Amino acid sequence: MSLTEHRMVGAGPVEDAGRRFDDLRGEHTIVKVEEPERAYWMVLGHDLTRECLQNPSAFSSDVITPLNQDPPFKMIPIQLDPPEHTRWRRLLARYFSPRQMALLRPRLEQRTRELVAEIKQKGECDYVSEFALQFPTVVFLEMMGLPVDELPRFLEWEKLALAPSADGTFDADRQAAGILSVVGYFQAAIARTRDGGEHGDELLSQTTAWELDGVPISDDVLVNCCLLLFLAGLDTVAMSLAFAMYHLATHDADREHVAAVAAAGGSMDEIVEEMLRFYAVPEIGRKVVHDMEIDCHRLRAGELVLFPLVAGNRDDALVAGADHVDLRRGRTTPHLAFGGGPHRCLGSHLARIEMNIALRGWHEAVPVYRLAHGATPRAYWSNVHGLMELRLSGFGEACSERREGAG
Ligand code: HEM
Repeated sequence: MSLTEHRMVGAGPVEDAGRRFDDLRGEHTIVKVEEPERAYWMVLGHDLTRECLQNPSAFSSDVITPLNQDPPFKMIPIQLDPPEHTRWRRLLARYFSPRQMALLRPRLEQRTRELVAEIKQKGECDYVSEFALQFPTVVFLEMMGLPVDELPRFLEWEKLALAPSADGTFDADRQAAGILSVVGYFQAAIARTRDGGEHGDELLSQTTAWELDGVPISDDVLVNCCLLLFLAGLDTVAMSLAFAMYHLATHDADREHVAAVAAAGGSMDEIVEEMLRFYAVPEIGRKVVHDMEIDCHRLRAGELVLFPLVAGNRDDALVAGADHVDLRRGRTTPHLAFGGGPHRCLGSHLARIEMNIALRGWHEAVPVYRLAHGATPRAYWSNVHGLMELRLSGFGEACSERREGAG
């Protein structure tokens, strides 16, 4: 089967993408997409997705999205294949261990309390711009050891590099301008660190001491790595949170469950995992290394393959009833939101901590809320799926006063 387009153009109803994948996956585990500007394969099944991601000798990370096959900067380590990739993973792993990430907890909890208190006082908000985008950016600054008062600058660059225009489409020039600003910032920051000659504990200042097999790493390559760290952990976390809050604002029983868990000081782990699974935001790509046959389709060397991870995550081969949210499913579900194989998300421990703290902090302070009257949130679909905005209000109203039909 072949499709003439995969992505919905612009923005649309939140549930559209997931349902479309369910319909397609009913018949196929892989389809060919032939759009006017590009052609690529799209894998829809859970098992096939996992198999391909675990096989870098057949599916190269040299290209990680059919949308931009030749980016101006090579993202490190995500665009490397083994054995080079393995060396980088070894180098970076220690900075992203659960223990290392847990050290950030107190500052992130404090920041969450501040952001939520401001929002609560106003009585309404756009969760996307007022919380979801801000929080992971602060986390990034803390993790890198950069001053938090850089927040407005980074938010501005992030908006250019990652956010869609008002109609849900993306402007390549705008994105390039955002990325160039970030690159310029890191070039200067790394040069300053080298001049200072000292290596503090923070990630950024450590980079200039890094070596691979005893060889120091050039500044250009370090900048490419910092750029990836910047891009990888922002809209992924922001939009995973935004979809989770959309879900809870439109499903009262689930929201009440989360609020009860937060009030009782219980574990948010299985809630976070189910939200990550059901609303998995990334679409990742690979380049076919050699000709092969998959499910009676001939894939040729050099062709591109797209894995919309939400498609595999909504496959019953992963878990029964995968096309709906069940917050009491248990946290063992090995979903695909963080990918699989050698490139599996390096920041997954941090992402989980962020989502945990953000959902707990919100529900402790604001257990009751709903979509604002007249709000019809729209999603967009790109390398990362997102929500244009999420207007919430009704903080603290009694259950009987909540808007009908939101569930
Ligand atoms: C909910 C939030 C997140 C999701 C859903 C997510 C998802 C992913 C996925 C699917 C990949 C694999 C890409 C591929 O195979 O081509 C990946 C890789 C990566 N992620 Fe995340 N991510 C999240 C948060 C973060 C955070 C907070 C960081 C911290 C900076 C981070 C850093 C990375 C890095 C460095 C890689 C590249 C790993 C490699 O190439 O070996 N991610 N992420």
